[in-house]
Amino acid sequence: MSTATTSLGRPAERLSKIKPSPIRQIFDKAAALDAAGEKVFHFEIGRPDFDTPDVVKAATAASLDRGEVHYGPNAGTPDLRAAIAEYLRSRRNTEYDPDTEVIVTIGANEAVFLALMAFCGPGDEVIVPVPAWAHYQSCVRLAGATPVPVPLNAADNFSLDLDAIAAAVTERTRMVIICTPNNPTGGVASHSEIEKLAQILEPTDALLMSDEIYADLVYEDIEHVSPAAIGNLRRRTLVIGGFAKAFAMDGWRLGWLAGPRELITPALRVRQYTTVCPPTFLQPGAATALRAARGDAEDMRREFEDRRRAGLKILSAVAGISVSKPDGAFYFYVTYPPALAEPAEELAMRLLETERVAVVPGTAFDPEGGTHAIRISYACNIDDLTEGLKRIARTLTPTQPEGAKQ
Ligand SMILES: Cc1ncc(COP(=O)(O)O)c(C=O)c1O
Repeated sequence: MSTATTSLGRPAERLSKIKPSPIRQIFDKAAALDAAGEKVFHFEIGRPDFDTPDVVKAATAASLDRGEVHYGPNAGTPDLRAAIAEYLRSRRNTEYDPDTEVIVTIGANEAVFLALMAFCGPGDEVIVPVPAWAHYQSCVRLAGATPVPVPLNAADNFSLDLDAIAAAVTERTRMVIICTPNNPTGGVASHSEIEKLAQILEPTDALLMSDEIYADLVYEDIEHVSPAAIGNLRRRTLVIGGFAKAFAMDGWRLGWLAGPRELITPALRVRQYTTVCPPTFLQPGAATALRAARGDAEDMRREFEDRRRAGLKILSAVAGISVSKPDGAFYFYVTYPPALAEPAEELAMRLLETERVAVVPGTAFDPEGGTHAIRISYACNIDDLTEGLKRIARTLTPTQPEGAKQ
């Protein structure tokens, strides 16, 4: 019987709308250089270079010693949910019932996925101000819904363009996604911006996804404001949070989704038929992070603040480029005029090939508006940061014509 087929690997229709990441080439090349023993300045990575605090590891080891190795509750252990609710109360001024309004997720990634799968589908539109973390739009598409990117303006420091968001709202708008502090721009939404967003959403049935994974990483006198704490927004807001960034626990794959019971119950249903529950023995460690490792997190934040200051000093001396005001997170988002350098994907490749510096092209965050932008992560030691930034500065500084040389 010959039923030769060429379609064994035919992906589902929903995947046709999701393109492979445009930054794969940079990542693969940086990895190849590493493997060849070359020194690469890794500014492409969005994760802390610190180790997870010891107290967190010890609590996890103790859980394993107690034999906590079996399935747990779908929403996560009651103790970790209680720790998350305590933390949100003390740090974000928001109240959630740990029994019904918090889900412990497999990283903040799963929280995004659960929220979108639970509430968005064909015919729904999801507003995503861009530049933005690429996962949002891909997950919106996986859910069968349509992302509606709203371009933010470099001249306004990529702050939330509320008039543009208001103009993008239609009767199909099911959700608006904001990320504050922001990846990639480092921008932090102000109280008044969020109040204005609340007014825009008030007459609608749109939900708000507030990705607050970087909430503990704000600098100088900047304050993070959770939309869930403002006006009448709580009832429509799904808060995304996690351990990866502030506690250096990215490999633990733990985060949370918090929201009113009416929104958490459907999200939990998605969880029941996908990942079932988070790893049981990691959860005592995560609860310990929130209760007993805030000092370690603050030490790391201060270190990021020092790096940020050192990095800004170097970048602000480069003529012709513009760095968005990095009030939070650990990224510099640099835009440059086309006259200064080639488009971002080519520039990123040149930086890697000639200077051994890996950065992410802006097109990863906004395919249209990010053609002349790069994201630089400063989650690396200060010596590497300084040297790598000098190399970027050198690349972006036009060489003087021969005749102009003394
Ligand atoms: C804005 C944003 N949200 C969520 C995540 C995912 O976090 P986690 O590692 O907890 O899944 C990231 C990771 O880079 C991020 O930048």
